[in-house]
Amino acid sequence: MDAQSDIEESNVLTSVLSAFYGYGDWLRSTHLTPKTIRYDSLSAEDQKLLAWFPEYLQRFAKAIDANEKLFQEIAVSSAENFGVPIDPIAWHHALESDFAKVDNVVSQILREWTEDGKAERDVCFGKILGELQERFPNVEERPQLKCLLPGTGLGRMLLEMVRLGFLSIGNEYTYHMITMSFFILNNVQRPNQYTLHPFLGKSKNVSSRENQLKSVTFPDSSPHERTKFMEQNPQIEFSDLMSMVTGSFLDLYGPPGLSFSNEYTANIETAEFRSQNKSSLDVIATCFFLDTAINIIDYLKAIHHCLKPNGIWLNFGPLLWHWEDDNTTIKLTSQNRDGSQKDEYVPTKGLELSRDDLIQLCNDIGFVFEKHESGLEATYGSDRRSLGEFRYKCEFWVCRKSQK
Ligand SMILES: C[S@@+](CC[C@H](N)C(=O)[O-])C[C@H]1O[C@@H](n2cnc3c(N)ncnc32)[C@H](O)[C@@H]1O
Repeated sequence: MDAQSDIEESNVLTSVLSAFYGYGDWLRSTHLTPKTIRYDSLSAEDQKLLAWFPEYLQRFAKAIDANEKLFQEIAVSSAENFGVPIDPIAWHHALESDFAKVDNVVSQILREWTEDGKAERDVCFGKILGELQERFPNVEERPQLKCLLPGTGLGRMLLEMVRLGFLSIGNEYTYHMITMSFFILNNVQRPNQYTLHPFLGKSKNVSSRENQLKSVTFPDSSPHERTKFMEQNPQIEFSDLMSMVTGSFLDLYGPPGLSFSNEYTANIETAEFRSQNKSSLDVIATCFFLDTAINIIDYLKAIHHCLKPNGIWLNFGPLLWHWEDDNTTIKLTSQNRDGSQKDEYVPTKGLELSRDDLIQLCNDIGFVFEKHESGLEATYGSDRRSLGEFRYKCEFWVCRKSQK
């Protein structure tokens, strides 16, 4: 990387750290302050009707303080791990969107690393893990199987695959997720070491004040914990099985000549890494990932490109196309016939395929469906005590890369 892109990268990282560090202040200004102002603005008579409110505000403020302390600890220790200054004054400022993403990370902790999230995980991670165990019953073979999990989030499914003996590589590109997953996977000493109030940023469909102020502990399982399966298989070097590759999936695993080739950074090391990944993987597991694509054709081509012939791709998820509501454009650079370059600006949204069209596309790109189930109900980051819950009807499939 050149000096300029080093600076830009460091700014992106430290703006995320600033958002972690300032998460408490953000919760205060977006939630506590409006509540306080509204209560204070009520007439004395109406205040009496909500006589419990001042105590609620106090408890809300204390819960924010606790979240703040935790997220500041995470921010500072992450700065140390990532080799940037540990003094927040030196960090780039956070954008509003960074704070909202930290709030998403809080929901993601609930999903991936708490006892509360277990039922949700069992549906999706459980489906993929169950299928892998069935397809690869020979435990001795598993450490030789190179498996990739694009969009690995906070790394729970990655850890569970490692615990089953698979050689597993996580791939994630947002620093929000990377910061938190790194913290959990590397800093945790014991189960349920940390306490978090995950519902402060949510005021809709709350069944009781207690539930909104509730705390949860995480991680429900410590990454250092040895499972029964691990004890039964002491010949496997589990500690060698996990790795994490940070960056965009297409940049790291895409084939040459993608239409959305601007995904490729100019970084030489990345280009080398990308070329080494051709036909290198035995398994790719995507969970709630496909619909993050700006160009789904590119994602499918990348999955096909880096699987070995006969390699398998397991997918679980809905089609909540992430860019559908985005009104920005992306620059596409292509070559004219004379070799000169042509830039074109196109909307990020627009290639949101239906399920049926997506399946046809998978076939056309060279995947053979070995298993396909539809309508599997699943939640995402759901609060089971909430009065409202969104359920996706997910697709699950296992495809094999065809030999053609
Ligand atoms: C909806 S989340 C799913 C996380 C996890 N797989 C799960 O099921 O809980 C999608 C994840 O993909 C990541 N992601 C999105 N686009 C990506 C890309 N191009 N390369 C790598 N990761 C990406 C996001 O940052 C996010 O963590």
